[in-house]
Amino acid sequence: MENTQILFAKRPEGMPSEDNFEIVRNPVPEPKEGEVLRRTLFLSVDPYMRGRMSTQKSYAEGAKLGEPMVGQTVAEVVASTNPRFQPGDIVLTSDGWQAYGLSDGKGLRKIDPSMGPVSYSLGVLGMVGLTSYVALLDIGKPKEGETVVVSAAAGAVGSIAGQIAKIKGCRVVGTAGSDEKCAYVTGELGFDACINYKTQDLNAALKESCPNGIDVYFDNVGGAVLDAVLRRINLHARIPLVGLISQYNAKPGPGPNLGALIVSRALIQGMLVFDHTDRLPEYLREMLQWLREGKVRYREDIVEGLENTPRAFIGLLNGENIGKRLVKA
Ligand SMILES: NC(=O)c1ccc[n+]([C@@H]2O[C@H](COP(=O)([O-])OP(=O)(O)OC[C@H]3O[C@@H](n4cnc5c(N)ncnc54)[C@H](OP(=O)(O)O)[C@@H]3O)[C@@H](O)[C@H]2O)c1
Repeated sequence: MENTQILFAKRPEGMPSEDNFEIVRNPVPEPKEGEVLRRTLFLSVDPYMRGRMSTQKSYAEGAKLGEPMVGQTVAEVVASTNPRFQPGDIVLTSDGWQAYGLSDGKGLRKIDPSMGPVSYSLGVLGMVGLTSYVALLDIGKPKEGETVVVSAAAGAVGSIAGQIAKIKGCRVVGTAGSDEKCAYVTGELGFDACINYKTQDLNAALKESCPNGIDVYFDNVGGAVLDAVLRRINLHARIPLVGLISQYNAKPGPGPNLGALIVSRALIQGMLVFDHTDRLPEYLREMLQWLREGKVRYREDIVEGLENTPRAFIGLLNGENIGKRLVKA
């Protein structure tokens, strides 16, 4: 048996490419006393991984050159001498981009398969969903009848955030990078409108789709969309600043006009999901109910084959995905 591993081989400049990674095959490690061996079923690829590939100081340690690229997986325990885990258990791991992971079991979380497809723990029933929930409700504080704009609306975080805003009775407008995505956002997800920020005039489209201004902007992207939204924010608007993906591969440049925040006395507040893990049980209770009732729809965008993980990740950064992108190992 071989352990296919995808190593972080070279730091990227700008957009990552496949030669930032190297695929190697090593023997599958044997569990020693107290250890748990698991086989990867699903890997999550996420925008934050771009940050881990750089040397810039951040809230988490960077990926190490020569080691498997970092990331969360859903895996099945295949051998265990640790009494807490049995073969067949499905666990959430930080094994990164590899076919097998081995450890003493610390940090592994058992997944309850009765909650839904086990891969959901990498998306709607995990940190991704919790991000949407806490940033929208705690910082955005949407009130019935208000207008909420969500960027990267066809992606994992944005699609959930917008649907929660709909549940709260808001007018919800998304932005996304293609007409196909916009059709998904308004059709399947039930947003009131969606702007293709690549082909439409953002200022004109926001004016038309947000006639009463913008009360909450759930920002996943920063850059040009943030700039255009700031021109239309209302008094005491709230902006959960969740991500700035438009800047992850870019050289630093002139930023948006944050002066508009002062004029409107708006709040812009950073959030990190890791500060809110204690809210996961509450979130899961609500989300499971919404999923059951069909109030929240969830789509996965699954790329087949562990070897295709670099391509899946780069495609994510290029906006290929509709819904939560995963790799099926
Ligand atoms: N603060 C936290 O704790 C936390 C936790 C999770 C995620 N996040 C952030 O949330 C955001 C969304 O993450 P996700 O996991 O849900 O990813 P995702 O939205 O499923 O995928 C990323 C999407 O970003 C869009 N994008 C790429 N380049 C862009 C650009 N230059 N301008 C505008 N949009 C661009 C693409 O869609 P388009 O086709 O629409 O461009 C792409 O599909 C990211 O910024 C991520 O870093 C933050």
